[in-house]
Amino acid sequence: MVVVLDCGSQYTQLIARRVRELEVYSEILPWDAEPEEVLSRSPKGIIVSGGPRSCVEEGAPKLSERLLKSGIPILGICYGMQMLAHQLGGRVVKAPSAEYGRCKVQVDSPGGLLRGFPEEFTVWMSHWDQVEQVPPGARVLARSESGAVAAFETEGGRISALQFHPEVAHTEKGTLALANFLFGVCGCERTWVLTDWVDRMVESIRTQVGDDRVICGLSGGVDSTVAAVLTSKAIGDRLSCIFVDNGLLRKDEARKVMETYTKLDLNVKMVDASDRFLEALKGVEEPEAKRKTIGEVFVRVFEEESSQVEGARWLLQGTLYPDVIESGHQGKGAAVIKSHHNVGGLPDFMKLKVLEPLRDLFKDEVRRIGAILGVPEGFLKRHPFPGPGLAVRCLGEVARERLDVLREADHILQEEIANFGLYDSLWQCFCVLLPVRSVGVMGDVRTYAETAVIRAVESQDGMTADWARLPYELLDRVSRRICNQVRGINRVVLDVTGKPPATIEWE
Ligand code: XMP
Repeated sequence: MVVVLDCGSQYTQLIARRVRELEVYSEILPWDAEPEEVLSRSPKGIIVSGGPRSCVEEGAPKLSERLLKSGIPILGICYGMQMLAHQLGGRVVKAPSAEYGRCKVQVDSPGGLLRGFPEEFTVWMSHWDQVEQVPPGARVLARSESGAVAAFETEGGRISALQFHPEVAHTEKGTLALANFLFGVCGCERTWVLTDWVDRMVESIRTQVGDDRVICGLSGGVDSTVAAVLTSKAIGDRLSCIFVDNGLLRKDEARKVMETYTKLDLNVKMVDASDRFLEALKGVEEPEAKRKTIGEVFVRVFEEESSQVEGARWLLQGTLYPDVIESGHQGKGAAVIKSHHNVGGLPDFMKLKVLEPLRDLFKDEVRRIGAILGVPEGFLKRHPFPGPGLAVRCLGEVARERLDVLREADHILQEEIANFGLYDSLWQCFCVLLPVRSVGVMGDVRTYAETAVIRAVESQDGMTADWARLPYELLDRVSRRICNQVRGINRVVLDVTGKPPATIEWE
C-alpha cells in the first residue's frame, strides 16, 4: 500500500484514485498525521500532495524527520516537491511569474520517474514558488520552458519529486510517472483488484456479522444499493432492507427502483410514508427547515419499521472513503452551507452496530463493484439525487399539486436529455419549480402560472460545477413541451450559474 499525505491540494483524492487505478491500494492521511500512524500501515511508498501554502512560510506543512529518514521511497508533487527540496537543503523561491495550466517540459536527464518519456512533453502545472536549487547530491530530471526545475531525484532515487501534476488527465504520460514510482522505485505489486476485493469483503461480512440480522435503508442511490447487494451476497435474507417512499421522488421512481431491487433479489420492504412527509412539510418554506423536517420524519419512520425486524443487530450504511476522509481531517471548521440528509444518518438510540463495507472505496470503485455484482449499468450511471428529494427543487411550499407539476416538467427534460444522448456527459440535470408567477398567453387566453428552471451541470465531484451548454434545439423542445403539456407552468428559464458562486441544487 501507499500513503498519500495531504497538504491541502484539491487533487489529493485524485492522486489516491490514480494509484488505485494502477491496482495499488492507497490511503490518504493528513500531512501532520503521527509518523507511527503512517508507519503502522507498512507503506511501500509515500506521496506528498500539492498544497496552497509556501513551504518557506512559518507553520507550512512539512514531512516529519522520522518519515524522511525511514528509508521508505517518497514522491513529492508540486508543493510536495518544494517542501522536500527545502527540507533536504535545496532552495525554494517565489518565481517571477506563476505557471498555471498546460506547460511544456524537457527531459534533462532521462530515467528514474521519467523512464519511457519523450524528450519533450506537456504537463499540467499550478504553482508560483519554484525550486531554484535542488538539494545537494540530487539530480535534475526535467525543466520547464522557463528553465525552472520540473523534476528531480536524490541519489539512488529513493526520494523524487515532480513540479507538475501527474494525476491530472492533461499531463501527458502522468500515469507512467506514477507507475515508475510505484513499480520501479517502491517495488509495489498490483494487488488492488476489485474482483478479489468482492470475495474478501463477502467473507469479511460473514465473519463480522455471524448469525445476526442486518437492516439497511435503501435510498435508490448507487451506494446503498451496492452495499446491500454485497451484503446480501454474504448473508442472504438475513439482510432486511427498507425503502421509504417519502413522496419526494421523481416520476415513477419508487416503482422503477423497487423493480430493480426485486431483480437484484434483495429482501426489501417498501414503506409509503409520503403522507407523513407532506403533512410535516406543510407551511415549511425555509430550505434548512425543510431539510431538518425531512430528516426527522425519516428517522421516525425508519425507527418504527426497523423495530419490526426481529433480532436486528447491525445497520448497513453505504459510507464511502471521501466521507471518511472528510469527517476525519478535512473540512474542520468549515461553514455549513447545507445540512445533508443521507439515509442512514441515524441517532445513537437505535443501538445498532454499524456495518460499512464500502468505507475504503471511491465512487468509481463502487460503480465497478456494482457492475461486478450485476447491478444494471443504467442504475449505476444514475445522476446523484439529494436525500430531501424534490423538496429542495420545489421552492416555496412543498404541496402535493406543485410536486406533481414539477415531476411532469422534470420528466420531459429527462426524456429530451436522453433523446439527445447527453445524459452520461452531465453530472446532473433537473427542473426546479419557482413560486414565481408571470403572465402568459396561450390560445388567446391569459395565463398566470409558475416558472420552471432548467438546471444542468458538468462536474467531476459535485464540489465545483460549470453550467452545461445545452444545445438550443434541446432547450427549445423542452421549453415548448413543458409549457404545452404541463398545466401550472407558462415560462421556462435556464440557470447559467456555476458552483461557486451558486450551489447545484437551489436549496
Ligand atoms: P450542492 O447543491 O450543495 O450539491 O451544490 C452538491 C451535490 O450534492 C447533492 N446533494 C445532496 N446529496 N443529500 C445527498 O445525498 C443531500 O441532502 C444533498 N443535497 C445536495 C447535489 O444533488 C449535488 O450532486
